[in-house]
Amino acid sequence: MKRIGLLTSGGDAPGMNCAIRAVVRTAIYHGLEVMGIDRGYAGLVDGAARQMDARSVGGIMNRGGTMLRTARCEEFKTPEGRARAAENIRRFLIEGLIVIGGDGTYRGATELAKEHNVACVGVPGTIDNDIGGTDYTIGFDTAINTALDAIDKIRDTAASHDRLFVVEVMGRGVGFIALSVGVAGGAEEILVPETPTDIDAMCRRLELGRKAGKTSSIVVVAEGDETGGAVKVGRDIRRKTHFTDVRVCVLGHLQRGGAPTAYDRIMASRLGSEAVTALLRGEKDVMVAVEKGDVFTRPMSDSWNLKKELNPHLLDLAKKLTV
Ligand code: F6P
Repeated sequence: MKRIGLLTSGGDAPGMNCAIRAVVRTAIYHGLEVMGIDRGYAGLVDGAARQMDARSVGGIMNRGGTMLRTARCEEFKTPEGRARAAENIRRFLIEGLIVIGGDGTYRGATELAKEHNVACVGVPGTIDNDIGGTDYTIGFDTAINTALDAIDKIRDTAASHDRLFVVEVMGRGVGFIALSVGVAGGAEEILVPETPTDIDAMCRRLELGRKAGKTSSIVVVAEGDETGGAVKVGRDIRRKTHFTDVRVCVLGHLQRGGAPTAYDRIMASRLGSEAVTALLRGEKDVMVAVEKGDVFTRPMSDSWNLKKELNPHLLDLAKKLTV
């Protein structure tokens, strides 16, 4: 193998730049050339690629986002789009492709591999932490720290004004971000899609908390929760309780940006580097994954075949600590 391709796809996540740097430098260390593809699969379809050298990835570790940029590409979802991408892969003499992204990114790579025999290796990159087969995805640690910082600040106002805040966090269809920041931020209630929410019971608990002397309350809602999100939950609480001063805050995309934490930088570096060595070992259709601190490879299809559950101990702890 002489030359590999590299792209980031789907939502950007802090730490992706560290993974890019690790891929480029590990590849160069092993005598490989790297073509950086612009804007994910969209760039692959359009043939937008450039050769990267060790210096081209200097000074990017502390930057959020992705220097290769990213996109959600509809054309790549069609056989014609993937045929154009495969043509460009041949034209650029790319012999192996590393894709950094989430579930959708892996599905795209799997189709490309099946139809055009391209050796692909996936690196888990999404703030949602929702990829099966890996304990960790690049960006999750930074996102929960960013959301936690926001919740701590909101708590200051909530406590000063005797207010109840409903805070919505990202996570697509899962509650990993909500559960982590809920526990770390001491939220009174944490609403996640993985467990059913009884709004009436929650309102009763909030009222009891107030009677027991709580001067502020924070309800963390995952954007994918079946209650319909923070605005709706805030309205329900106003209607069903004696809380008059209820405020809603949707944290939104600020959770996606910013300088990656040390943990994200280290893990992204390990995962990116391992992706290159996997290609050199002749592996394909695999993702790099982390379990109990170990980095290894496993079939890419594990990302959707293995269901990832919320930590039951953390769910239980959240209940105990809000009495
Ligand atoms: O997957 C990352 C994520 O930020 C999700 O948490 C969120 O649901 C989604 O992307 C938002 O996507 P977009 O940036 O396309 O609006």
